[in-house]
Amino acid sequence: MKLFIYLVCLSLLLPTMVYAENKSQHAEHKITSGVEALSSDLRDLLSREMRALESGMMSIIPAFHAGEWDKIAATAGKMKNSYVLKQKLSESQARELHTLLPPSFIEKDRQFHYLAGMLEHAAKNRKAELINFYFSEMNRSCPACHTLFATHKFPALLPAKADEQHSQH
Ligand code: HEC
Repeated sequence: MKLFIYLVCLSLLLPTMVYAENKSQHAEHKITSGVEALSSDLRDLLSREMRALESGMMSIIPAFHAGEWDKIAATAGKMKNSYVLKQKLSESQARELHTLLPPSFIEKDRQFHYLAGMLEHAAKNRKAELINFYFSEMNRSCPACHTLFATHKFPALLPAKADEQHSQH
């Protein structure tokens, strides 16, 4: 009997859990539009910075294969320091960023810079294994942030819709 009550409760609960999930996806889309609401000069800065990050990341691959640790340390150091949220911002732009972007964006950004600093440190110490580790953690952080804040730029990162998921089986 207890099991029966448990099952009934579960069947009542499940739809509300699915609903909650849909709601949180909806909330994320709202966050994305926070980036779209930034003023055009701030967005230009962000775009430029992102492209610089991408070419920095790509340049690390051949440097790693060639054992050019100093080059990696220099690139990682630039990524750690040069990011748009850290410099080049006027006071009002900084205020704009903090008003329009949620704390989770700032946190993802902070985490990325922490990893870049660790990569710089590992490269200075010529530790290939750690360089590889922090590089791949940084690599992972790109789509992790884009999934939440840049699906307008990268629509392939949008969560698959329920009917698409079914058609894959
Ligand atoms: C803290 C969040 C965050 C992290 C971390 C992040 N990005 Fe982005 N990225 C964004 C946002 C937001 C946009 C969209 C900007 C816009 O629409 O104006 C973007 C856009 C881009 C673009 C497109 C730029 C353009 O306008 O042409 C590239 C390329 C890019 N990111 C590369 C990277 C790479 C490579 C990494 C990792 C090394 C990375 N990003 C990490 C938030 C992030």
